[in-house]
Amino acid sequence: MDRNLDILLVSEDETITNQLLNSFDRDENTITVVRFEDVSREVNRQTRDIVIMVQSSNDHIVEQIQYIKSINPLTFTIFLATESDINLLRNITRAGAEEFFVLPEELSLFISRFPTIQKSYQMRLDSEKEQPIMFGKGRGQIYSFYSGKGGTGKSLISSTFAQTLKLESAAEVILIDLNLQYGGIETLMSISTNRSIADLKPVIQELNENHIRNVSQTEENSQLEVLISPCDAEVGEQLDEDFISRLLRTCRRSFDYCVIDLPPQMSALTAAAIEESDQIYYVLLPETTSLKVLKNFEEVCERLGIHLQSSLSMIVNQLSKDKELQIKDLKNLLRFPIKTTIRYDYKGLQSFVNKGEVIRKKPKEKLIPFSKDIRKFVKSVLNPK
Ligand SMILES: Nc1ncnc2c1ncn2[C@@H]1O[C@H](COP(=O)(O)OP(=O)(O)OP(=O)(O)O)[C@@H](O)[C@H]1O
Ligand SMILES: [Mg+2]
Repeated sequence: MDRNLDILLVSEDETITNQLLNSFDRDENTITVVRFEDVSREVNRQTRDIVIMVQSSNDHIVEQIQYIKSINPLTFTIFLATESDINLLRNITRAGAEEFFVLPEELSLFISRFPTIQKSYQMRLDSEKEQPIMFGKGRGQIYSFYSGKGGTGKSLISSTFAQTLKLESAAEVILIDLNLQYGGIETLMSISTNRSIADLKPVIQELNENHIRNVSQTEENSQLEVLISPCDAEVGEQLDEDFISRLLRTCRRSFDYCVIDLPPQMSALTAAAIEESDQIYYVLLPETTSLKVLKNFEEVCERLGIHLQSSLSMIVNQLSKDKELQIKDLKNLLRFPIKTTIRYDYKGLQSFVNKGEVIRKKPKEKLIPFSKDIRKFVKSVLNPK
C-alpha cells in the first residue's frame, strides 16, 4: 500500500485553500497550509512530498521553487497561477515546477488530475528507491544559545558545547559567533584570523558550503569549523536579517549541527536567528534578576510573533549551594523545561579563560566539573531518550 503523502499547501487565499482542502483526501494525506514567507523554513524542517503553491504576488516565486528543488529534488511542485503570464509560467517550469494550472478556469481540472499526480509521484519515488540516492547531507540542526542578560556564560557554554559535540561524535559541526559588534569567540578559542562572517556578504545571494568553509576557521584540536564575527561594529551593522537567514539555511544544509552564540541584545538579527533555530537554549543564572530578564524576553517574543513553547529550554548555569535559587525553586517558577544544569566552577575555568585556551581538546582527557556537565548535556542531545 502506498504511504501517506506529506503535502504543503502554500496559500494566502482562504477561498482557494478551502476549495482545495475540501477536495483532497485528508485520510490518505497530511496537508499543512502555510503562508508564502514560511515556505523555506517548512521545506527545511522535514521532507515534503508535494508542494502546491497558490500565486499571491509575483515576488520571489521562481526563487522559492528553485529553493524547494534544491532542498529535495524529488519534491513534486505544483504552481497554481492566478494570472496567465506566459513568461512567469515558463520561468516556473524552468525552475523545476512539474505542473502548473491557471485559476480559476483550471481549478477543477487540477482537482480531477490530483489523484493521478499522486500516483505518478509514488511511482517515481519507488523507482528512485531502487538506486540509493542521497538527499544531500543530513538535515542539520540549529541550536542557539541566548540570554537577555550579559555575562551569563553563553559564549563559554556554546563554544564548549560545539567543541564537545565535535570531539564526541562524527558529526560535522559549525560554531557561529553572532555577536556582530564585539565578537568574543575568537578570544575564548584563541583564533586569530582576518576573515569573518562579513566576508560572506558579497556572495550571500548564491551562498554555498565552499564559501562558508573558505571563511570559517578550523579549530586545530577538534576540527570544529568556527565562523568569527567581524569585531568591527561598523562592518557588523551592514549585515541584515536576510543575510542571517540565508547564512543559517546554507549552514543547515552543509553541517549536522550549527551552534550559534547570540548577543544579549534582542535585535532584528537575533530574532531572525531565533526564528531559524530548532532549539533555543536560554542560559539562566539561578537568581531573580535573571528570571525578570527572561520574562521580558518572553514578552518581546510574543510581540514579535515568535513562538517559543516548542523550541525553548533552559540551561541553568553557575549552579551552587549558596545561590539565591535552587533547582526545585526554578522548576516551580519556569514554564519552560530545564534541559541541563552546569555547576559553578570558577577554579576549573580560571586558567582556561585567562589563557584563552579551549576547554576541550581531546576525546579522552581529564575533565573539569564544567566540562563534565557540558559533556552530559551533549550526550543528551546526541542520544535523546
Ligand atoms: N559555570 C561557570 N562557573 C564559573 N564561571 C563561569 C561559569 N560560566 C561562565 N562563567 C564565567 O562567566 C564569565 C562570562 O562568560 P561568557 O563570556 O561565556 O558570558 P556571555 O553570556 O557570553 O557574556 P556576553 O553577554 O558578554 O556575551 C566568564 O568569565 C566565565 O568564566
Ligand atoms: Mg558572549
